[in-house]
Amino acid sequence: MMFMRMLLSLTAPLAYATITGAWSTFVVPHTNDADDTPALMAAISDYTSDASVVFEANTTYNVWSPITFSHLTNVEVVISGNLTYPKSIETVQGYVAAANYSGAWFSFIGGNNVTLRGSTDPDWGWVDGHGQQWWDIMQQTNRPHGWLFKDVTNGIITDVKIYKPVAWNFAITGSSNVHIFNNIILARSDNVSFPFNTDGFSAGGNNLLFENNYVVNGDDCLTVGNGAKNITWRDGYCEGSHGLSVGSLGENGQVASVENVLFESTIMNRTLYAARFKSWTGGNGAAINITWKNIIFIDVMFPIYITQNYWDQGAGAPPNSSSVNETHIENFLFDQFVGVINDTPGYVEGSCITDPCWYYVSGATGKEAIIFDLYPNTATNIVVKNLVASTLSGAPIAAMCNSSTISSDVGFVCWNGPYVPTMAGL
Ligand SMILES: *[C@@H]1O[C@H](CO)[C@@H](O)[C@H](O)[C@H]1NC(C)=O
Ligand SMILES: *[C@@H]1O[C@H](CO)[C@@H](O)[C@H](O)[C@H]1NC(C)=O
Ligand SMILES: *[C@@H]1O[C@H](CO)[C@@H](O)[C@H](O)[C@H]1NC(C)=O
Ligand SMILES: *[C@@H]1O[C@H](CO)[C@@H](O)[C@H](O)[C@H]1NC(C)=O
Ligand SMILES: *[C@@H]1O[C@H](CO)[C@@H](O)[C@H](O)[C@H]1NC(C)=O
Ligand SMILES: *[C@@H]1O[C@H](CO)[C@@H](O)[C@H](O)[C@H]1NC(C)=O
Ligand SMILES: *[C@@H]1O[C@H](CO)[C@@H](O)[C@H](O)[C@H]1NC(C)=O
Ligand SMILES: *[C@@H]1O[C@H](CO)[C@@H](O)[C@H](O)[C@H]1NC(C)=O
Ligand SMILES: *[C@@H]1O[C@H](CO)[C@@H](O)[C@H](O)[C@H]1NC(C)=O
Ligand SMILES: *[C@@H]1O[C@H](CO)[C@@H](O)[C@H](O)[C@H]1NC(C)=O
Ligand SMILES: *[C@@H]1O[C@H](CO)[C@@H](O)[C@H](O)[C@H]1NC(C)=O
Repeated sequence: MMFMRMLLSLTAPLAYATITGAWSTFVVPHTNDADDTPALMAAISDYTSDASVVFEANTTYNVWSPITFSHLTNVEVVISGNLTYPKSIETVQGYVAAANYSGAWFSFIGGNNVTLRGSTDPDWGWVDGHGQQWWDIMQQTNRPHGWLFKDVTNGIITDVKIYKPVAWNFAITGSSNVHIFNNIILARSDNVSFPFNTDGFSAGGNNLLFENNYVVNGDDCLTVGNGAKNITWRDGYCEGSHGLSVGSLGENGQVASVENVLFESTIMNRTLYAARFKSWTGGNGAAINITWKNIIFIDVMFPIYITQNYWDQGAGAPPNSSSVNETHIENFLFDQFVGVINDTPGYVEGSCITDPCWYYVSGATGKEAIIFDLYPNTATNIVVKNLVASTLSGAPIAAMCNSSTISSDVGFVCWNGPYVPTMAGL
C-alpha cells in the first residue's frame, strides 16, 4: 500500500503536466474612459482553452461594446471587478442594431466546460446595465439581451450579479449540463417606471440545474422554452416577476416539445403569476411531466395559471378550436402551493399599460388560486394538490375550470366557483 501511494504521488504531477499542458490566465486590461472590450477581443484567441479570463477586483471595466466568447474549452471567465454598460442609450442601440450583433451583450457560443463566475464580495462583481434610464422613458427599441449561453456543453454560471439590466438577462439555449446557481438579478425600479422584459433566465436545452438564484424583475423569473428537457429549478426567490413559466409554445403551429421539468421550493413574492403555462392557439407537439412543488406565494395575483389558448388579442378573435390543433399537455402536477392571493380591488400590476390589462381574464373574480384555460381532449392528468391559500381581502378563494375540457380528477371541483378540493387534491 505504502509503495503504491509513493508511486502514485511521484507519477501524478508528471502525468498532469503532459496531459493538460499549461494553464494560462489573462487579466483583462482596463483603460479609464475607454472601451475595454477591444483589448479583450484582440487577446481572446490565445485563451480559448485551459485558461482563466479575469476581470480583476477593484476595477470598474467599461464594457462599452459587446463581448463574444466562441468555442471555449476548459475556460473560466471570472468577474471580480465591476462591469458597466455604456450609459448612452444610443450607443447600446447602435451595437444591437448592427448586422454582426451576436444576440447579446455577452455571448458564449459553443464550447465545452465553460465557467462564468462572479464575485461573492458584495461591493464588486456587479454588471451594471443602467436600465433605469431605459425604463423611465419606456425605451424598447434595440434593447440588448444580457447573457447568451448557446450550444455550450458542461457549463457553470455562478455568483454573477446583475444590476439594473436594460431587459432580458440569461438566455440558455441549445446547451446541456449547465449548473446555474447563486446568481443575483436586481431589476428593481426606483419608481413607477416598469422594468419591462427583464426576464431572469430562459432555459432551452437539456440537463439544466438552477439553484439558489435571487431574482427581482419585471417578467418571467425562469421561462422554459421549446426543446427543453430535464430542467430543474429549486431553492429560488422571485420578486415582482411574472413567474416560473413554461412557454410560450406552439406559436404559428410550431411543433413544441418540453419534457421533465421540476420547479421546487421557491418563494414568489408579489409576482403576477407563481406557476404559468402558456401555449398558442394552433400549436402542435406536447409538454409532458412538469411539476411545480413547494411554492410559497406572497400577494400573488394568479398563483396557478395554465392556458392552451393564448393568442394575440390585438390581432382579432381567437381561431376556432375545432379548426386547429393544440399543444398537448400531460402529467402536470402543482403540489404544496401555500400563500396569499392579491385580490386588492383596483390593484394593477406594473406591466399593465392597457385597459383591459394584457393579463385580463374574462370572468375572473381576482380570487382564483387556479385558472385552467384548456382545450378539450388535449390535457391529460393535470392535478393540483395540497393547496393552502387565502386572499388579502379575506374572501374565500376560487377556481376557474371548464369541466368539458378535462377527463380526470384535477384535484378540485372543475368549475368557475369556490375552490373545493377533491380526492386527487388531498
Ligand atoms: C482590493 O482593495 C482592497 C481594499 O483596498 C484590498 O484589500 C484588496 O487586496 C484589493 N484586491 C485586489 C485584487 O487588488
Ligand atoms: C473544466 O474547467 C475548469 C476551469 O473552469 C478546470 O479547472 C477543470 O479542470 C476543467 N475540467 C476538465 C475535465 O478539464
Ligand atoms: C462588427 O462590425 C463593426 C463594423 O464593421 C466592427 O467594427 C466590429 O469589430 C464588428 N464586431 C464584431 C463582434 O465582429
Ligand atoms: C459595483 O457596482 C454596483 C452596482 O452598480 C455598485 O452598487 C457598487 O457600489 C460598485 N462597487 C464599487 C466598489 O464601486
Ligand atoms: C423615475 O426616476 C427618475 C430619476 O431616478 C426620473 O428621471 C424619472 O422621471 C422617474 N420616472 C417616473 C415615471 O417617475
Ligand atoms: C438531469 O440533469 C441533471 C443536472 O441537472 C443531471 O444530473 C441528471 O443526470 C440528468 N438526468 C438525466 C436522466 O439525464
Ligand atoms: C419527470 O421529470 C422528473 C424531473 O423533472 C424526473 O425525475 C422523472 O423521472 C420524470 N418522470 C418520467 C416518467 O419521465
Ligand atoms: C417581499 O418584497 C418586499 C418588497 O417588495 C419586501 O419588503 C419583503 O421583505 C419581501 N418578502 C420576503 C419574504 O422576502
Ligand atoms: C369560426 O367559426 C365561425 C362559425 O363557423 C366562423 O364564422 C368564423 O369565421 C370562424 N373564425 C375563424 C377565425 O376561423
Ligand atoms: C395537426 O396535427 C396533425 C397530426 O399531428 C398534423 O398532421 C397537422 O398538420 C396539424 N395541423 C396543423 C394546422 O398544424
Ligand atoms: C367549455 O368548453 C366547451 C368546449 O370547449 C365550450 O363549448 C364551452 O363554451 C365552454 N364553457 C364555458 C363556460 O367556457
